[in-house]
Amino acid sequence: MDLLQREGHYPVPPQAGPILGVEFSGHISSLGPSVKESFKVGDEVFGLAYGGAYAEYIAVNTHMLLHKPQHLSWEQAAGIPEVWITATQALYPVGEFTKGKSVLWHAGASSVSIAGIQLSIAGGASAVYVTAGSQEKIDFCVKELGATAGFNYKTQDWSKEIWKATGEKGVDLIIDFVGQNYFQGNLDVAARDGHIVGLGALSGTKLQAGVDIGALLRKRLRFEGSSLRSRDAEYQGRLRDKLEKYLSNFENGSFKLFTEKVIPWEEVVEAHKLMEKNVTKGKIICTIS
Ligand SMILES: NC(=O)c1ccc[n+]([C@@H]2O[C@H](COP(=O)([O-])OP(=O)(O)OC[C@H]3O[C@@H](n4cnc5c(N)ncnc54)[C@H](OP(=O)(O)O)[C@@H]3O)[C@@H](O)[C@H]2O)c1
Repeated sequence: MDLLQREGHYPVPPQAGPILGVEFSGHISSLGPSVKESFKVGDEVFGLAYGGAYAEYIAVNTHMLLHKPQHLSWEQAAGIPEVWITATQALYPVGEFTKGKSVLWHAGASSVSIAGIQLSIAGGASAVYVTAGSQEKIDFCVKELGATAGFNYKTQDWSKEIWKATGEKGVDLIIDFVGQNYFQGNLDVAARDGHIVGLGALSGTKLQAGVDIGALLRKRLRFEGSSLRSRDAEYQGRLRDKLEKYLSNFENGSFKLFTEKVIPWEEVVEAHKLMEKNVTKGKIICTIS
């Protein structure tokens, strides 16, 4: 999202100014007059924003704010809200996941999928499949995160392989960030009554000629797009409440947090260059000293 916004290709919501960034951690330096929630000046907090989180100071709705527990570092806290809330939203209110369903997380080692894989396992998924662009990332998803199996989209026909791995039953819920290049594969690998949630279009938005949508009808599939940043503060607040319930899982280690690199904000260009390389397994955090 930051890369797209930087290049002028992201539909920035009207509440956001020109500064990038949708998640942060820090101290409260002042409060508006009508705050009803339990926040006071000086509190250590972290949260979600419509924009502006690359700045030193940010004004946010308290519906999108959480108290930072002592067990989380500033860097860990700053990297939680966007990805854990996005994964929660994709899995539950949008994806309608229930215990026993199988799930496929594309871009398995992306930060959203790192959260999503763990949430799927904790929610009782029957199997969690991933795709990723290297064996190292697949090993990480399987060995570190507990995914059932992973497939390298650069060297394997992932939809055929996953179809086989499910005993030709297919996957109940697919979370996709890739769009164009994966559209046909997602239709092919979905189970009957399956749900495909589109959260991004990393390969493009325009479908190739010859895409066969027959499976949409034959298998009674649903394809649903979603975007967290376009949701209103009340909706985001409800997801914030769900995230608050995970805080003890971060403390007891049942949910793991992964930070690829911490970089001073003066070197934000390096942070973007690193993100563009597609080599990360977790968050890139910029610190303001
Ligand atoms: N809709 C929403 O509400 C929402 C909210 C948050 C994020 N998102 C989207 O979710 C995606 C993941 O975000 P993130 O912050 O977790 O990303 P991230 O940690 O930066 O990981 C992105 C990964 O995607 C893979 N990738 C990139 N281009 C690809 C392509 N053309 N085909 C296949 N895989 C590709 C790369 O891994 P490989 O090595 O495996 O290729 C890359 O490392 C982004 O597209 C982001 O915009 C959507």
